[in-house]
Amino acid sequence: MKVIRSVSKMQRLSRDLTAKGKKIGLVPTMGYLHEGHLSLIRRAKKAADVVIVTIFVNPTQFGPGEDLAKYPRDEKGDIAKIKATGGDYVFSPRAKDVYPEDFCTYVTTEELTKTLEGVSRPTHFRGVTTIVAKLFNITRPDVAVFGMKDYQQAVVLKRMTRDLGYPVKIIIAPTVREPDGLAMSSRNRYFDDRARWEAVCLYYALRSAKEMVKAGQTSVVRINKEMVAVIMATCPTARIDYIAFTDFKTLKPVRRIVRGTVCSLAVEVHGVRLIDNMKLA
Ligand code: PAF
Repeated sequence: MKVIRSVSKMQRLSRDLTAKGKKIGLVPTMGYLHEGHLSLIRRAKKAADVVIVTIFVNPTQFGPGEDLAKYPRDEKGDIAKIKATGGDYVFSPRAKDVYPEDFCTYVTTEELTKTLEGVSRPTHFRGVTTIVAKLFNITRPDVAVFGMKDYQQAVVLKRMTRDLGYPVKIIIAPTVREPDGLAMSSRNRYFDDRARWEAVCLYYALRSAKEMVKAGQTSVVRINKEMVAVIMATCPTARIDYIAFTDFKTLKPVRRIVRGTVCSLAVEVHGVRLIDNMKLA
């Protein structure tokens, strides 16, 4: 496995791989890899001949006051994990090469980014679409794998890929959870023992929503009420940012649960903002 830091070297390499007829799979990450990321690498390996994993803590997707400076990093550990999982190349560029000093060109996907995460984090998706477009240009993938954990991100990137005509197949891989149900996230490391235990409140709320739907409940208002109760019972200090019921593809809100409804939520647990989601029907 090779580690590449230079943008031009990565561009040359991906051109050569394509010329040799190799199908390239891309797994973009911000590092500090956990089992969730490794599952994306495994998925990419099934779909491609060569897997490139990128490690880049992308500054443009963090808003003012967000955790860019303290975002966890462990490049050495990440490289070892990628190697053990069968990644072929790690692309870990320097920020100044990705964003030269006078950088001023961004990719924005409209509409889909004004809801859910986009309300609290208005510049977040512009940063995500810009970096992913740049990574597509540099690595020229045939397929790219993203996690369902960041469901809105996956929908936005699918739309960006289609709208800009990138010849890239987007695969959305399932969320990987801890044994108690907490979705894996690099941010889980911020928790002490008690907070970590209470962080499972998002999953408990989603699970209760799913059970209500299975029992025939279709009212978004009733399910929402029950989810709030479950969250507050599990983590009394939780601050709920949103609980939303939307169509899987369009992200448009639904009033009753129908086929393709996804419930997503963002909750601050002991100062750490977590997101999670589940397809309800
Ligand atoms: O999901 C992430 O880790 C990031 O948003 C991504 C897609 C790597 C872009 O920086």
